[in-house]
Amino acid sequence: MGMVDLTNFDDEMKKRVTEVKSIIESYLPEEEGFQRTLLEAVNYSMLVGGKKLRPLLMQQTYAMFGGTSPAIRPFMAAIEMIHTHSLIHDDLPAMDNDEYRRGKKTTHVVYGEAMAILAGDALLNYAYETAAKAFDLDPGNPRLGKAFQILAAKTGLDGMIGGQSVDVEYVDKPLTQEQLFFIYKLKTSALIEASMMIGAVLAGATQEETEKIERIARNVGLAFQIQDDILDVVGEEETLGKPTKSDEKNKKTTYVTVKGLEKAQTDVAKYSEEAIRIMEELPYENEFLHELILHLIHRNA
Ligand code: IPE
Ligand code: IPE
Ligand code: MG
Ligand code: MG
Ligand code: MG
Repeated sequence: MGMVDLTNFDDEMKKRVTEVKSIIESYLPEEEGFQRTLLEAVNYSMLVGGKKLRPLLMQQTYAMFGGTSPAIRPFMAAIEMIHTHSLIHDDLPAMDNDEYRRGKKTTHVVYGEAMAILAGDALLNYAYETAAKAFDLDPGNPRLGKAFQILAAKTGLDGMIGGQSVDVEYVDKPLTQEQLFFIYKLKTSALIEASMMIGAVLAGATQEETEKIERIARNVGLAFQIQDDILDVVGEEETLGKPTKSDEKNKKTTYVTVKGLEKAQTDVAKYSEEAIRIMEELPYENEFLHELILHLIHRNA
């Protein structure tokens, strides 16, 4: 990576997100054929904005471990596709029933529910088609299979989708702290764990280092979801690009309803600092990644 001037973190961030976006865009489908509407819905949901945090975390972890192969690129696009799939489905009437996402009308509002379900399905599948392109970019790289396994496992029954299932099942029911952590670990941390672990694995991290990365990402994810819950209560819709008070509307038990706003805020910092502490045990450094994790504590979008 070399030294980066972090006196202006926001400028640096903007530059890097722009690069991440162009990598993702290079893997998006052409809008053509009889299934054109589906392809438009897919591109609409992918291109309308979003922080691109997961591919950025993947790329930065990859850089921290000295990775240089272009094989990381399809995985960066794939994780954002899986994440976007999760958002399209999360916003559906049967789930959180929200009408804004990333500053625009949600996919089901624009294209109808049936097409939004299919656009979500299509992105989930296209993510694996895309990640599989890494096998052509870097033939014979033995780490690609491992990265692929992580991507699949962290998305599925014991990952994001499993977490979303408990999230919707326990609506309007009290949750123990253990259940709440279970939900957050799966619905939110899992994709962040996948992002950072894939970056590490593809760059050649050892098993032990990869486990540390998983713990770092778990803490980043917990902090991220708690902050998301806080912003649902005190955030601004304009800045967030999605509705506030969605959790209240859906009678969700959240970190804020269980612990209160103040404790939630303290714990966002606590989990983020724990992530940094584990990161400092590694024999590598990435100043930008370090700053990024700290900046997320105070994010307002
Ligand atoms: C929203 O994720 C869903 C959660 C896990 C809280 P982001 O806040 O990363 O959403 P985008 O990608 O920036 O829109
Ligand atoms: C969603 O949590 C996590 C996902 C896996 C999509 P939320 O339902 O709180 O996410 P937002 O607030 O709608 O982005
Ligand atoms: Mg939800
Ligand atoms: Mg939601
Ligand atoms: Mg939320």
